[in-house]
Amino acid sequence: MANNNLVGFFKDYLTEDTLFQNKKALSTSYTPQEISHRDKEIDQVAGILAPLLKYDKPSNLFMYGKTGTGKTLVMKYVTQQILKVAEEKKTAIQIIYLNCKLKRIADTEYRLIAQLIREMGKEVPPTGLPTDEVYNIFYKILENNPCMLLIVLDEIDQLIKKAGDEIIYNLTRINSDLKESQITIVGISNSLVFTDGIDPRVKSSLNEEEVVFPPYNALQIQDILKERCTTAFKKDVIKEGVIEKCAAYAAREHGDARRAIELLRVAGEVAERKKKKVVDITDLDEAEEKIEKDRVIDVIKTQPKQSQAALYCIVEIFEVKRKKIHTGEIYEKYKNICGNLNLRPLTQRRISDILAELDMFGIINSQVISKGRYGRTKEISLAFSTSMLTKIKKLLQQELGI
Ligand SMILES: Nc1ncnc2c1ncn2[C@@H]1O[C@H](COP(=O)(O)OP(=O)(O)OP(=O)(O)O)[C@@H](O)[C@H]1O
Ligand SMILES: [Mg+2]
Repeated sequence: MANNNLVGFFKDYLTEDTLFQNKKALSTSYTPQEISHRDKEIDQVAGILAPLLKYDKPSNLFMYGKTGTGKTLVMKYVTQQILKVAEEKKTAIQIIYLNCKLKRIADTEYRLIAQLIREMGKEVPPTGLPTDEVYNIFYKILENNPCMLLIVLDEIDQLIKKAGDEIIYNLTRINSDLKESQITIVGISNSLVFTDGIDPRVKSSLNEEEVVFPPYNALQIQDILKERCTTAFKKDVIKEGVIEKCAAYAAREHGDARRAIELLRVAGEVAERKKKKVVDITDLDEAEEKIEKDRVIDVIKTQPKQSQAALYCIVEIFEVKRKKIHTGEIYEKYKNICGNLNLRPLTQRRISDILAELDMFGIINSQVISKGRYGRTKEISLAFSTSMLTKIKKLLQQELGI
């Protein structure tokens, strides 16, 4: 594009027909008008937290369910409604919502308590005080400002992974010293195994109540998408069958509403780039492929060198063989290329672990094959479409400096 054409380009860009009416409705930060298929969960959470409004301490609550099942949405909705009534009735309720995945908020016990203090409107140095002292400040704020404090720790597994599980125990223990205020904790997680690892004391203090969010089925995802479409797209832009297939894609692994909404957004963008007036199934398929490609590339980029090297071997063998590969073959090749790559060869056992990880990330598929009295072996195949093979190989060569 010549420089002098840029103004023209921008003007065209502005007047260009867009398929979207309100694209923000498909962004992650958007709060939908309606929450469908979560009445039961909303009622449960509301019932558990309602005592706040009578200035009684509710039970601590643990909410879990797979990603994109509406946990954060439901929690935010219920707390907003509680605050509305609390304001009207002048009940002293404070609600602090923290996403523990965010850096510098929940990496250490100190940081978390400091953040809580800040949320309550007081300052505290970012480091330097003994942790006990920070707890003391927090305690004093609560005693000087009587309230029912609800602390929502979203993605709590991240907090416990980084800062340990004592923190939950310590937080709940403050209650026995507090006279004017009480603390209730809501933990939210999409990791179902994380509670297995934590101290039973901590687990039971958090799990006084539990609400489980089941994955949506394809029909439920369809409803969510239809509702979202009416705000996000102009009228009659989405062709018949698109919503259904989009929901089917999303429900393939588990019903993840976030993934479904993202897919629809990308399908809209694909159609728009082609200057089409409607979004049809081919746009959706293209969007699905694009998202999958981005995902695979992201995972590969973040793998350690050893893992990238193992994957590179699989790709090279597959290019020639075009069928399933035995782990033995991969290991032989891996040992050979380690020298060129300046890598210290790992044991076959460690490479097996690495392959299991790549399987978990959905980059490869491995299948255990019994060889009768010769024991068992694993057969490996690539989990991404072979149309991506060349691109992935190039990426790995870049990453490994080949
Ligand atoms: N029942 C629903 N109705 C409308 N939109 C929904 C519904 N459930 C989820 N969504 C939308 O799907 C996306 C994911 O929902 P949410 O963030 O609540 O999932 P989550 O369970 O917290 O997932 P994660 O475990 O990954 O944090 C959000 O954009 C949300 O608005
Ligand atoms: Mg969430």
